[in-house]
Amino acid sequence: MRPFYLLAVICIMTSGCERGVPENVSFKNDIQPILNRSCVPCHNQVRPQGNIDLSSYSALMESRYFTRHEPIAVAGNSHDSRLYIVVATGNERMRMPPVHSEFRRVSNRETEMIRVWIEEGAKDN
Ligand code: HEC
Repeated sequence: MRPFYLLAVICIMTSGCERGVPENVSFKNDIQPILNRSCVPCHNQVRPQGNIDLSSYSALMESRYFTRHEPIAVAGNSHDSRLYIVVATGNERMRMPPVHSEFRRVSNRETEMIRVWIEEGAKDN
């Protein structure tokens, strides 16, 4: 069975993909674990790809998108936040983690959690 279909079956069996997103998303308990799994292998202190370090809250908030000055998580504005854009985009050349990498894609529910966390103020909570 191909991984995609296997995942779909797991989602149906557990309803894991349909569960609502909690309010008050926690950076520490909800967001950092997603980043650790899917992003930090390439975005860490040692060798931050694109100069983006996602290994901690402070490192994330200090990271900048290339030459721009905005943070990658703009509090209250997910649509201007690269952190959200790169996981939510349908454009495979832009999406993170890179499609051809070995790292697991951020699920729809996790993407929604990132959106809610940013909309709730991108807090260190
Ligand atoms: C396999 C390595 C790898 C993984 C895993 C990875 N990235 Fe990246 N990322 C890169 C590289 C390389 C660049 C810089 C070159 C580029 O833009 O493609 C980059 C650039 C970025 C940028 C700046 C460019 C832009 O389009 O905004 C952001 C933001 C980003 N990554 C976020 C993430 C997030 C969030 C995750 C996890 C969901 C992630 N990355 C996972 C390799 C990775």
